[in-house]
Amino acid sequence: MNIHKFVMPEVIFGNGAIHQVGESCLRLGATNVLIVSDPGVIEAGWLDVVIKSCKQIGLKYTTFYDVTMNPKDSEVEKGCEVYIQNECDSIIGIGGGSAIDVAKAIAILATNGGRIHDYEGIDKIKNPLPPQVMIPTTAGSGSEVSQFSVILDTAGQKKMTIVSKSLVPDIAIVDPETLSTKSAHLTASTGLDVLTHGIEAYVSLAATPLTDVQAKNAISLVAQYLRPSVASKINKEAKTNMAMASLQAGLAFSNAILGAVHAMSHAIGGKYPILHGDVNSILLPHVMEYNLLANPKKFADIALFLGIDIRGMSDMEAGKKAIEYVKNLTLDIGAPQRLSDIGLEKEEIRKMSLIALHDACMITNPRDVTVEDIEEIFRKAW
Ligand SMILES: [Fe+2]
Repeated sequence: MNIHKFVMPEVIFGNGAIHQVGESCLRLGATNVLIVSDPGVIEAGWLDVVIKSCKQIGLKYTTFYDVTMNPKDSEVEKGCEVYIQNECDSIIGIGGGSAIDVAKAIAILATNGGRIHDYEGIDKIKNPLPPQVMIPTTAGSGSEVSQFSVILDTAGQKKMTIVSKSLVPDIAIVDPETLSTKSAHLTASTGLDVLTHGIEAYVSLAATPLTDVQAKNAISLVAQYLRPSVASKINKEAKTNMAMASLQAGLAFSNAILGAVHAMSHAIGGKYPILHGDVNSILLPHVMEYNLLANPKKFADIALFLGIDIRGMSDMEAGKKAIEYVKNLTLDIGAPQRLSDIGLEKEEIRKMSLIALHDACMITNPRDVTVEDIEEIFRKAW
């Protein structure tokens, strides 16, 4: 029998859950917390909610919100300085994947020292990290439950994927109410990232029965609730279900890892300041098409999870229907369709392909890839 491992944090899920952040920190022994967020979170008022919760129980805090989209090594270093100067002993991350990834990366440097570049790859972290409580405000990255942090190497112009069980936060607080302040574009982009997590985890070489059930639910929830969630900021049913989809997709990919979509998307995100979910949604149908041959049965399952009637179809036929569904979903919610639309220069494709080939996410892609294969997929998506 194969040995399966599954790691996850304590999860607090539900409307109003954000108010438990102070008490959650206290339970972890925190006395002086660094709160990492971004300007969008502050504008939406969620940082104030976190501060109020910390004040209510007498927890000391410092804030750091110098975090941008596709977060950078320099932001992590600055945040770590703030952590050390203020003698913090714990970390709250609140925001999208960027703020949470920076919060986790600060935690690495706080107890391990060196530069964040030293920890790129799998299991490079030696010392335990400070207590971490993460609160996602997008239904997207899954970083609040994952063993990943993705940080941009600004000099090398590439994203570094850091993978370690130490990066799984202690507590994830998922409050669907925080999703009500996001634009339709951000909701669409992050929602398609969730779908990509679910699909890549489900067909991953490292998938297990424990991750499959999470991926299945995530894919099915996205199919039912992403469209209404994009259409309305106040549709509570849609927001709650997308928050659950994001959480479950996060649990799936944290343990099953990802595949070629993320490897290629990380390569592009290293050079171009584009939303991660936008790149993923362009690449996803093309990578599905490429990977279909590797596991037709699992792609047929995906069609089923998406709500497609696959009776009488072969697995290959059903898998093709799943790809068609994903393309239509991206069109329905106005996601970008081509890499040329988002500014990728054709001359960059070879370089991007070489970077993608060596990304940690490529290891679990279900079909073997060469640099030429990646180039071909990029060209189809361009
Ligand atoms: Fe992602």
